[in-house]
Amino acid sequence: MPKWTPLLLLLGLVILLGATYALFPPGRATPAASPTTAATPGTLVAQGAVLFHQFKCDTCHTVDGSRAAGPTLKGLAGSTVTLDTGQTVTADTQYLRRSILDPDSQVPKGYSPDVMSPAINDIIDQIEADHNLDALVAYIESLK
Ligand code: HEC
Repeated sequence: MPKWTPLLLLLGLVILLGATYALFPPGRATPAASPTTAATPGTLVAQGAVLFHQFKCDTCHTVDGSRAAGPTLKGLAGSTVTLDTGQTVTADTQYLRRSILDPDSQVPKGYSPDVMSPAINDIIDQIEADHNLDALVAYIESLK
């Protein structure tokens, strides 16, 4: 066997490895994030729906358009809200987060302050924990 045969074999091996790497880069081999991780929108919405009941938000808010102690949350996301100051604001994600964490800071026209704030005072830490606020907001944003 000629002297350079091992070298040729080695070269072949290197080329083979290179081709494999090019065809199947390690990044592509990793499966896409599984739909059960907390960060995926669908799961957040489902979590939010559970929390909405668990935190008793549904005692004051409907999701079907009818009025209760608080405004319905159906169609709220992205809509224009008139506040009791007469000012109008767009109900974007920032507005929704603030409406939940600090309800008295922006009161929709026709509703009273000091109704929601005392009701959630005891659970505000839980609302802020984990992804709970993200989940609640994602749920509200799903209520078209
Ligand atoms: C005791 C009744 C009550 C409970 C419980 C309550 N809310 Fe409210 N909520 C209100 C009232 C009244 C308003 C309007 C006045 C204000 O902003 O404080 C309001 C306002 C809001 C708004 C803004 C609505 C708009 O049209 O701009 C959002 C969003 C909201 N609440 C979400 C929640 C979530 C999420 C929970 C549960 C964690 C919750 N609320 C629990 C009574 C309640």
